[in-house]
Amino acid sequence: MPNHEEIYSNQAETYDLLISKQESLYETINTIKRVEGLDILDIGAGSGRLTCVLAPKVKSILALDQSEAMLQVTANKLQKAGLHNWRTQVADHRKLPVEDNSADLIVSGWSICYLGSSNVENWKENIHQVMMEIKRVLRPGGTAIIIENFGTGSETPNPPNFLSEYYSLLETVYGCSHKWIRTDYTFENLGEAERLTRFFFGDILAEKVVKEKLAKLPECAVVWWLNL
Ligand SMILES: C[S@@+](CC[C@H](N)C(=O)[O-])C[C@H]1O[C@@H](n2cnc3c(N)ncnc32)[C@H](O)[C@@H]1O
Repeated sequence: MPNHEEIYSNQAETYDLLISKQESLYETINTIKRVEGLDILDIGAGSGRLTCVLAPKVKSILALDQSEAMLQVTANKLQKAGLHNWRTQVADHRKLPVEDNSADLIVSGWSICYLGSSNVENWKENIHQVMMEIKRVLRPGGTAIIIENFGTGSETPNPPNFLSEYYSLLETVYGCSHKWIRTDYTFENLGEAERLTRFFFGDILAEKVVKEKLAKLPECAVVWWLNL
């Protein structure tokens, strides 16, 4: 498997190209919580997939991530769009540099999983810290929306085994509701599909793309939400 930490440090633009092949998640988020006029926090914002579609509609948005290189891509896109209601800051999910009761909505896409994989030492304690931070920072009546992997290369839910205990905690201990959605990648052609799949998901999935001629690579995601 490719080293994702290395990708987030040195290949942020290529990651952004990969996720530009997916549909916007604006409606998915806006259906759970109307975003207009809200103060929003995007934790693990990366290259700004969620921040950039939300920013034009919201009062303010703070994009946090542990990778400065990823946040630079976000900042470039927001500057280019001529927006001024945003900020980026390097931070870890377990210690958010934000005051108590200061956000109406926290969003997080494909990021908390890096602390919650069962092969990570202290994963349970990590998730506890993240969920306590989310609850501290949200205003009463606020909402958290957490989007995670539910199976790349799959048309129906097929979550990775190493995330199943984290998902189970979100439901049983932290009281999150969930639904699943499709987040397919529509590539320009088979060559691009193979190249970008190999870049982020590794050789096994890239070989499947080649063998099954998947210029459109199916993916499922799970959307968790918690209303305070
Ligand atoms: C798969 S990317 C997702 C980026 C973006 N949310 C998206 O939907 O495309 C994962 C991001 O999580 C960040 N990340 C991983 N662990 C983190 C942590 N403990 N605290 C803050 N950010 C973290 C990485 O730097 C990376 O930018």
